[in-house]
Amino acid sequence: MNPSIHQTTAIRGRFLDVSAVTNNLDQIENNVRYQEDGLLIISDGCIKFFGDWQTGQEEIPNHCTILHYKDKLIVPGFVDTHIHFPQAEIAGSYGEQLLQWLEKHAFPAEKQFGHSGYAAETADFFINQLLSNGTTTAAAFGSVHPESVSALFEAAQEIDLRLIAGKVMMDRNAPAELLDCASSSYEESKKLIEKYHGTGRLSYAISPRFAPTSTADQLDAAGQLKKEFPDVYVQTHLSENHEEIQWVKKLFPQRENYFDVYQHHGLTGPLSIFGHCVHLEELEWQKIQETDSVISFCPTSNLFLGSGLFDMKKANDHKIRVGLATDIGGGTSYSMLKTLAEAYKVLQLQGQNFSPWQALYTVTLGGARALSLDHLIGNFDPGKEADFVVLDPCATKLQARQYERAENPADLFFSLVTLGDDRSVSHTYINGSLVYERPGSITAQET
Ligand code: GUN
Ligand code: ZN
Repeated sequence: MNPSIHQTTAIRGRFLDVSAVTNNLDQIENNVRYQEDGLLIISDGCIKFFGDWQTGQEEIPNHCTILHYKDKLIVPGFVDTHIHFPQAEIAGSYGEQLLQWLEKHAFPAEKQFGHSGYAAETADFFINQLLSNGTTTAAAFGSVHPESVSALFEAAQEIDLRLIAGKVMMDRNAPAELLDCASSSYEESKKLIEKYHGTGRLSYAISPRFAPTSTADQLDAAGQLKKEFPDVYVQTHLSENHEEIQWVKKLFPQRENYFDVYQHHGLTGPLSIFGHCVHLEELEWQKIQETDSVISFCPTSNLFLGSGLFDMKKANDHKIRVGLATDIGGGTSYSMLKTLAEAYKVLQLQGQNFSPWQALYTVTLGGARALSLDHLIGNFDPGKEADFVVLDPCATKLQARQYERAENPADLFFSLVTLGDDRSVSHTYINGSLVYERPGSITAQET
């Protein structure tokens, strides 16, 4: 536990967040809150007060430290809803499309995670990447080795990072060193659930990698786990690539479609997160809606692996919750700002709108809602956990020029989306504690 968690801190600066969840992204601007000179008071890791500086000052307790971030923009911490820990180092590796890329890059990298020392060292690197990019909540796949997930959970726990993670279940169609079996995957996952799920800010996700790498027996075992532990998440991949989809049809000819493979085994529902969903059939859209399952939109990955363009409008029309995701290492950046920029382009190519406020919502409160965590994180409502990011809108010379031209908060945020990356993240706070400060950034002034 972080030592500063019991302190009260007041943060003064410019704040931007979204006040309420919505099914209608076109109306999101009605819920945007902008405080030009705002105040956030944090006590015991939670938000006690959020409002404007002038009227809020009297709420500040005596002897409380007041940090003033001048010329910055403070937003809720970013939520990455789909990322692969054992692919921490392989982002951007050259390859063909999904199935060849898995063989050539992902599987070889994942073999190393049976070694606890390597997993622990990489967990520190991985978490540092999240923090330095402003990501304060993530849903992460481990490798098939339970040690990989233990290493990641232990590293997250040290700084109180909100993390959902799970050991990949995979009993066919992968290198022998990476295979478990239905019963061992059940037992290992169960042990991890019992040890970590609900401990502090950690949650478990039952993680069958994707239908092609699990037998029906293993998917049954995964479904059995979900029955025994209904408040645990499920994360997997769905309908990412044409070759993959054809393969699933061959492997599961008795199932109506790809989504039905998971539904048949009890793996769908409000805590089930399906990565990609680029080529869904009409019936699959309907079933995702009916089961209130969740989609992770992974734009940099879908572009890099040539998978296709995610249809956000269709998801919105079906009122399906969508979170944004880096999908490292199929994705090419840990930065949720860069991921937003690519999401914008993917939607532009389909004539779909993705306004600055839709972007802000998607990486903060919308992401929290996708993970059913919007009662705990996602905006600055009093009572919520104080996870937030201090962004520098002038991190580069070009951005500094755009900053001068920005006429309103939407321009300001959109410039961070299109030009921003880890250089834009000056400070990251988790549970009210500073966990990352960009080297060379100006420390907040104490007043
Ligand atoms: N489908 C199954 N495994 C993976 C993975 O590791 N990355 C991506 N992008 N898709 C997958
Ligand atoms: Zn993935």
